Amino acid sequence: EEGMNAQDLGKILHREPAEIVKKLFMLGVMTNQNQSLDKDTIELLAAEYGIESEEKVHEDISDIDNLYTKEMEASKESKNQVKRPPVVTIMGHVDHGKTTLLDRLRHTNVSEHEAGGITQSIGAYQVRLDDRLITFLDTPGHAAFSNMRARGAEITDIVVLVVAADDGVMPQTIEAIDHAKSAQVPIIVAVNKIDKPGANPDHVMEQLMKYGLVPEDWGGDTIFVKISAKTGENVDDLLQMILLQADVMELQADPQQKAIGTVVEARLDKGRGPVADLLVQQGTLKIGDPIVIGDTYGRVRVMTNDKGRRVKKATPSTPVEITGLNDVPSSADKLVVFDDEKTARSVGEQRAKNALEKQRENVQHVTLDNLFDTM
Ligand code: GTP
Ligand code: MG
Repeated sequence: EEGMNAQDLGKILHREPAEIVKKLFMLGVMTNQNQSLDKDTIELLAAEYGIESEEKVHEDISDIDNLYTKEMEASKESKNQVKRPPVVTIMGHVDHGKTTLLDRLRHTNVSEHEAGGITQSIGAYQVRLDDRLITFLDTPGHAAFSNMRARGAEITDIVVLVVAADDGVMPQTIEAIDHAKSAQVPIIVAVNKIDKPGANPDHVMEQLMKYGLVPEDWGGDTIFVKISAKTGENVDDLLQMILLQADVMELQADPQQKAIGTVVEARLDKGRGPVADLLVQQGTLKIGDPIVIGDTYGRVRVMTNDKGRRVKKATPSTPVEITGLNDVPSSADKLVVFDDEKTARSVGEQRAKNALEKQRENVQHVTLDNLFDTM
């Protein structure tokens, strides 16, 4: 394109302009950030970033999932990597005690205030043990919320599978195992309610062998912890096991790169407008950052942590609630940060437009089908 320079390309490729200049230098092209580049040079550079043609360079900027993946990959090669808290998703059959376990860890009583005692959304919280943090996602166990469990498994490092010792393996226990397996996430089993008279933890362990979860004592490699979320028995052991597993996984992140994250839940708040609960996965999200989430855009206006306190920034593995978006994103949407608001807005608007067109196409197809049906 006429007049494109290293700065423009940097924006499109989601890279610092200085990096573009450096890359071009390595390719034998001397330029500065403002000098416009010819078509051949742009194609050369595009190829260097694994993009075949100039048109694709343009597509690239609105491909949020691709930008997200790129940042995720970049973090793995970064020299600024530091240890990050593990993200742990609590899963299991309805009423087996997931929320009670989190209540115990957080000294809260969310489960008592839930409608019908049933969790209906994903909650995200951080718990501190000694000087270390663990990020927890609570998921609903009710059969109707399979999608939420699948999403929970996808953004997590470890799944804690809660199985009630008086009830044993149930349909959503098995479903949770499947989600964890397909997301390739290790499972720690928490056999819960061991305080109950009818509790039979060994039976649960036997049942789970059928699904490839074999305790270490029995020659397998799955960690089992027998707990009571109600009395707190062995709950500290469970935390220790989680941290041990996290150490083995060497979970790291680069807090210095551009933030990326995933939406856990989003909604429209009467007073505050669109609100998104999200998990920051790499980089540091700051107040004022120009962002695109799914088909929405804006600037991070107010950011709140899991304790309801306002924060100015959020480092990797931190769950936060943000406002400042033009519209409500969907769960599982990816967040990326842009250099300026103008770019974020144009990408967001483009994506919203595309989504609308796609929706219209679908509607038209349906209409056509209906027409044939009636003929
Ligand atoms: P969903 O979110 O709806 O899937 O349920 P949940 O897994 O979060 O279960 P929840 O924590 O709401 O607990 C269900 C019931 O089991 C509540 O009445 C809890 O008090 C009880 N409960 C949970 N853990 C224990 C435990 O360790 N011992 C005993 N005796 N009761 C427990
Ligand atoms: Mg619950």
